[in-house]
Amino acid sequence: MPENDAFWDFYWENHLQPMENLGKRAAILAVSALIRRLAGQTSQPLRLLEFGCGEGQVIGSLLEAHSKVCSLSGSLGVDYNARFLAQCRQDHPYLRCIEGDFTDPDLLAGLGKFDIVLLVNALHEVFSDCYSPELNQIDIPAAKMRVEQALAAAADRLEPGGWLILFDGLEPPQVVQEVLRIRFRDHRARQGFETFAQEYQPLQITYRQVDGPLCVELPWRDFTRYITKSIFLGKRLWQSERLQSYQYFTEAEYRAAFVRSGLEIIDLQTLTVNEEKWRDLVDIDTPGVGFPDEHILIQSRRVDPNSSR
Ligand SMILES: C[S@@+](CC[C@H](N)C(=O)[O-])C[C@H]1O[C@@H](n2cnc3c(N)ncnc32)[C@H](O)[C@@H]1O
Repeated sequence: MPENDAFWDFYWENHLQPMENLGKRAAILAVSALIRRLAGQTSQPLRLLEFGCGEGQVIGSLLEAHSKVCSLSGSLGVDYNARFLAQCRQDHPYLRCIEGDFTDPDLLAGLGKFDIVLLVNALHEVFSDCYSPELNQIDIPAAKMRVEQALAAAADRLEPGGWLILFDGLEPPQVVQEVLRIRFRDHRARQGFETFAQEYQPLQITYRQVDGPLCVELPWRDFTRYITKSIFLGKRLWQSERLQSYQYFTEAEYRAAFVRSGLEIIDLQTLTVNEEKWRDLVDIDTPGVGFPDEHILIQSRRVDPNSSR
């Protein structure tokens, strides 16, 4: 069977079933299409680098799918979590991995250059690592600066004209400061929200109860944080998820940071990944307001100073 688009649609439909509702699916599909495009333009095998590769679901499945056109020895995953890397090595034995901090200049200096760099759900952890016990929340200006430095360092690992793909959380626009009113579907959902408000570490969550026990008003930003974490409440993963803010940059901040990092945005999509599950928990009472687009997928290219474009 020729490996046309229909072949790949079928391939990914089968291979990505276990991660059906996770946003990284969108990133994998986008990078798969990119690899197919680039492979038609060069005879050299493509080198992929993923910062924060975790268990290797993203880079591992891409290399597995495109082993004919990607370089296995020239591709690399980096992560500082030894436990995730052990799982990665078990699941994807052909993938080269390094245990280390991808914000560490010494580690970066020895990595070489790549054709595609992946940042999939990785930079929000750099942001969240800037939690300040004195402030009792993330030191936001310092954290944003650190994220931008990590983005620039990732861009620096690209060959001129190489591609950086980012998938991560999206902060609502600055203009959206208003409060919205939500109504929990039942007392269990309301109790889950209470746990969220008390235990979420990155930022102080504010809300006030109105119109009975199931209804609260809260800033749009805090709602976005709640709703994107709601799927973990009551689960084992909540203990690690409560420490992480998915959101750090608005779309405008992403755009500005990409330009400053020498990256030209070729495609940008905002998306929502779990709306069906959210509808089981809450209704939004504020007229004309829907669930937020809370993730972003950016495909960008390192500006090539020698290009005539
Ligand atoms: C949410 S997971 C995503 C894993 C993978 N990209 C995926 O989508 O399946 C984020 C990963 O980034 C890693 N990470 C976060 N900050 C890091 C840093 N500064 N250096 C190395 N790894 C980091 C974490 O250990 C974790 O494995």
